Amino acid sequence: MRVLVTGGAGFIGSHSVDKMIERGWEVVIIDNLSTGLRANVNARARLVEMDVLDNTLVELFSQEKFDCVLHLAAQTSVPYSIDHPDIDCQVNLLGLVNVMEACRKTGVKRVAVASSAAVYGDAASLPIVEETELKPGSFYGLTKCTKEKYLALYSQIYHIDYVALRYANVYGERQGDGGEGGVVSIFTRKIAADQTIGIFGDGGQTRDFIYVGDVAEANCQVLTAPLSAINRVYNVSTQTQTNVNDLAALLFQAAAKPAKMKYLPARNGDIYHSMLSNKAAVTSLGWKPVMPLADGLIRTYHWLKKKC
Ligand SMILES: NC(=O)c1ccc[n+]([C@@H]2O[C@H](COP(=O)([O-])OP(=O)(O)OC[C@H]3O[C@@H](n4cnc5c(N)ncnc54)[C@H](O)[C@@H]3O)[C@@H](O)[C@H]2O)c1
Repeated sequence: MRVLVTGGAGFIGSHSVDKMIERGWEVVIIDNLSTGLRANVNARARLVEMDVLDNTLVELFSQEKFDCVLHLAAQTSVPYSIDHPDIDCQVNLLGLVNVMEACRKTGVKRVAVASSAAVYGDAASLPIVEETELKPGSFYGLTKCTKEKYLALYSQIYHIDYVALRYANVYGERQGDGGEGGVVSIFTRKIAADQTIGIFGDGGQTRDFIYVGDVAEANCQVLTAPLSAINRVYNVSTQTQTNVNDLAALLFQAAAKPAKMKYLPARNGDIYHSMLSNKAAVTSLGWKPVMPLADGLIRTYHWLKKKC
């Protein structure tokens, strides 16, 4: 199978590429290396340094004849989207349309796209299921919602099959300290450098932390899932709530260091609790997360420590 991964030099993309190569797939990556790194790229994949907005993208598609596409390249920062809705819209929406037009013109049959828990905003009840009302509280969440609608219409009009994956808070090796889900990455870096970590509010706020290897596995599985399981959205999550105090304690344990933390004023607009149901993905795709949080955090800490 010939696959294009956009954003394949990034955090989730590079883990997804590794799993595709293990499956014997041929992988081409396009990435503008804005946050991704050449060093993340699997030696058996081909990296083309290109922007998803590039108007020659269709030529690459014509030459390479991809069977399917995993589209991850995006502007990934929620606060940046608040300050720069124009750039967020350009990269996240026009970037998607450029990819979908290249798919349409070259006969690509299936596309999987990264969406996000940010589409839900502050949900009234937990766990959040795929049918929960979408109330994004940021332009980033709004462009993710809109992407899903574009995919549904491309499927209806041009018969390009799709899956949109609403990831919870992803963590693991190679995560940068910007973008989404950065709390693990930020704490890990501080602990490795023997600095005090700052916790906003009382630390009781919860998130659904999922290991990047489990997300990468879902990304691969949807590309070969039966037709009956696709043309829809899935949450990709552990369906487990962990509060920030417990997360910090697990990370200090992973580092075998005494806890050094201080509490800061709560941030305006932060969601207090979040947890996504993964029942649909487990039932329809046969996917399930396998990495326990404590083990995933140990891996993440030791990867970062080795880099320092
Ligand atoms: N990390 C999370 O917790 C999380 C949660 C929900 C959704 N997501 C989504 O998953 C996807 C991957 O995110 P990530 O965490 O791996 O971030 P990342 O920044 O590590 O990866 C994004 C990659 O896309 C590349 N890129 C950005 N803009 C580009 C452009 N215009 N053209 C070509 N390449 C471009 C970057 O260089 C980078 O390699 C994104 O769509 C993000 O919105 C991530």
